Amino acid sequence: MTCKEAKELVKGRLGDKRYRHTLNVKKMAVALAERWGADPEKAALAALLHDSAKELSRAELLQIFHDNAIIANNAAQRPAPVWHGLAAAILCQTRWGVSDPEILSAIRCHTTGKKGMSLLDKIIYMADMTSDERDFPGVEELRKLEFEDLDKALCTALEQSLQFVKDGGKPVDPESLAALEDVRSSIAHRT
Ligand SMILES: [Fe+2]
Ligand SMILES: [Fe+2]
Repeated sequence: MTCKEAKELVKGRLGDKRYRHTLNVKKMAVALAERWGADPEKAALAALLHDSAKELSRAELLQIFHDNAIIANNAAQRPAPVWHGLAAAILCQTRWGVSDPEILSAIRCHTTGKKGMSLLDKIIYMADMTSDERDFPGVEELRKLEFEDLDKALCTALEQSLQFVKDGGKPVDPESLAALEDVRSSIAHRT
């Protein structure tokens, strides 16, 4: 799938506000890819597709997991806010001809992170958190930090979103905790 095709696809699947968010995530993902030496084309495609399942109903998401039980793994057991990334990766792989495992991984873990994140995973996670329209307290600092030290920015972003989930009384996804522990240890072991 080309970026042009991905853009058309998501334009038809998302409301205006989320489509604008998607374009902003793409812009930030490409800038981060250029800064950190990732492939800007892959970053653009992953960003364009990351929220492609966000406006599906709970029933539609569960149906996707049911129909693709092997690749969905334990998706339905994870917290519901995580589902749209997992479902988007399944749709990309099974219906839209996206076969690049790096792109699929970045889409799949964009809400939570995971243990052993690749450069592209980190870029999409951060681009989603710091896209132009985001205005939560601390976002400006994150935008600065992600161009200076991607792992430190990721660590701060994961801490903030975990806190947000906890404050809302929502279940924490174990992948987020694993991601945080992993990035903390790689920062601690820097030489
Ligand atoms: Fe998302
Ligand atoms: Fe998003």
